[in-house]
Amino acid sequence: MEGVVLPEVEVNTYRKANPLLARVILNKPLVKKEDTEVCHIVLDADAMNYREGQSVGVIPPGVNEKGNPHAVRLYSIASLGSRTPGAEKLSLTVKRVVYQNDKGEVVRGVCSNYLCDLKEGDVVSLTGPAGRKFLLPVDEDIHRPYVFMATGTGIAPFRAFLQRLFRVVKDFREPVFLFMGVRYEDELLYDSEFRSYQKENFHYYTALSRQQKNPDGSRKYIHHVMAEKADELFPLLQNPRTLFYMCGLKGMESGFDYAIKAIAAQKGVDGEELLKSCQSRLESETY
Ligand code: A2P
Repeated sequence: MEGVVLPEVEVNTYRKANPLLARVILNKPLVKKEDTEVCHIVLDADAMNYREGQSVGVIPPGVNEKGNPHAVRLYSIASLGSRTPGAEKLSLTVKRVVYQNDKGEVVRGVCSNYLCDLKEGDVVSLTGPAGRKFLLPVDEDIHRPYVFMATGTGIAPFRAFLQRLFRVVKDFREPVFLFMGVRYEDELLYDSEFRSYQKENFHYYTALSRQQKNPDGSRKYIHHVMAEKADELFPLLQNPRTLFYMCGLKGMESGFDYAIKAIAAQKGVDGEELLKSCQSRLESETY
C-alpha cells in the first residue's frame, strides 16, 4: 500500500520463552450449533502494546505426538488497541475446529479447542504482538474510503477497525464497505454490533453461501455480492485513496480479482488495469 502512512507498532515483545500470562475474563459463544461453534474470548493482556489489525500468538499447553511443545497459533485481535482509552480488553474470535480425516477419524484442532474450552480465570500464554502491515493508517491519514472483505472468523480485525473508525476517530465521513461471507445467516458474527452503527457512510453486505444462490445455482460468496454492487463500488475502485483489506479463507484472493474484473466489465473499463490499481491498495491475510 504505497503512499499510506501506517502507525509504528511494537512486535514480538513477548516470545515463546517469555510469554505474557493473560487471564481469561470472558468466553462466550457467538455461534453454537451442532456442527459449528465460534467463541468470543476476552483476555487481560493490557501489558502488551498492540494495535487493531495485529495478531497474537497462543501457546497451547502440553506437547504434540513427537513430545515437543505445541507450535504457536496466530489469532487476529478483534478489539481496539490496548492503548485506546475505554477499549474492551484483548478479544479473539475462535472457531472450534473438529473434522473427520480421510481415515474417518475425528480430528480436533489443538489450539482452537483449547481456547474454546477456556473458563473465566484460566491463564493463557501469549506471544506477540505480530504484524506490521495489516493496519489502518495513522489518524492524520485515516480519512479514506475502505472496503473490508471477510469470511468466517476473518471478521475479527474488521470488528476492531470499525470500532476505531466509528467509535474513536472523530467525524469519520468516508464510505466504508464491509462484505462478510458465512454459510448461514445464524453464523454471522458481530452482526448486531455492525447493524447498530446506522451510519450513512457504512455499507454492510453479507453473502450466505448455503442459503443464497447465484443465478447459475452456485454458492453465493462475497465476490459475487461485490460484483452485484458495481454501481456503489466502482467510484471507490477508481479512487486512488480507497484501501482494501481482506481476511479469511485462502481462496478469497482470486475472488477479489473476479469481483474487480466483473465490475470493470459492467462499467466498460479495462479490467486488468483496474485490478492492478486495486491490488496495489490491497492488504490481505488469508489462511
Ligand atoms: P462454503 O463453505 O459454503 O463453500 P468458514 O466459516 O468455513 O471459514 O467459511 C466462511 C464462508 O466462506 C463460507 O460461507 C464458505 O462457503 C465461504 N467460502 C469458501 N470458499 C470461499 C472462497 N474461495 N471465496 C469466498 N468465500 C468462500
